Amino acid sequence: MKRLVVYQSATGFTAQYAAWIAEELSCGAKELKQVSAAEIAQCDSVIFGGWIMGGNISGLEKLRKMNPAKLIVFGVGAMSDSEQVRNSLKNQNHLEVIPFFYLEGGLAFEKMGFFPKMMLKTLHKAIAKKENRTEQEEDMLKRFEGSFDHSDRERLAPLLKEVQEI
Ligand SMILES: Cc1cc2nc3c(=O)[nH]c(=O)nc-3n(C[C@H](O)[C@H](O)[C@H](O)COP(=O)(O)O)c2cc1C
Repeated sequence: MKRLVVYQSATGFTAQYAAWIAEELSCGAKELKQVSAAEIAQCDSVIFGGWIMGGNISGLEKLRKMNPAKLIVFGVGAMSDSEQVRNSLKNQNHLEVIPFFYLEGGLAFEKMGFFPKMMLKTLHKAIAKKENRTEQEEDMLKRFEGSFDHSDRERLAPLLKEVQEI
């Protein structure tokens, strides 16, 4: 059974989770930009992880076009894990029939480029101005203020269970 972990990470949280998964499964981990369709075709299963931007799992569409035989997806973001967050990510990324796992990463402002940093600050200001904020917006307001790291190897248990059952 040939497995491969493929990932797209901007500030390192997704890369860290990919490395932990590869270690647990004793398989390789590669950045999406270093992987070819021919390589994906040789795999029985691909575990893909992308960082979340505005609810989109980055790199997922590119990976999907390579038609992996079996795909398992994880998304890494800064929001608190909840059923609501998981369901909205599933819907937005068309993952209704594909196993999907949300993993809390964190925020690393010091590693972000100018534009992502500006986008987050603008989003934070816009939410702060709102009067009737949803639970998710309250969460964003608290979390998108400064850098933090919530990545934790323990969060991988459900994903590893799913992969090992295939
Ligand atoms: C412009 C921008 C938009 C973001 N949008 C979301 C989001 O919609 N949901 C979320 O949970 N996290 C969001 N984040 C936070 C990142 O997903 C989070 O920092 C993640 O851990 C980054 O992973 P990486 O280190 O692998 O790049 C956003 C970050 C940036 C810079």
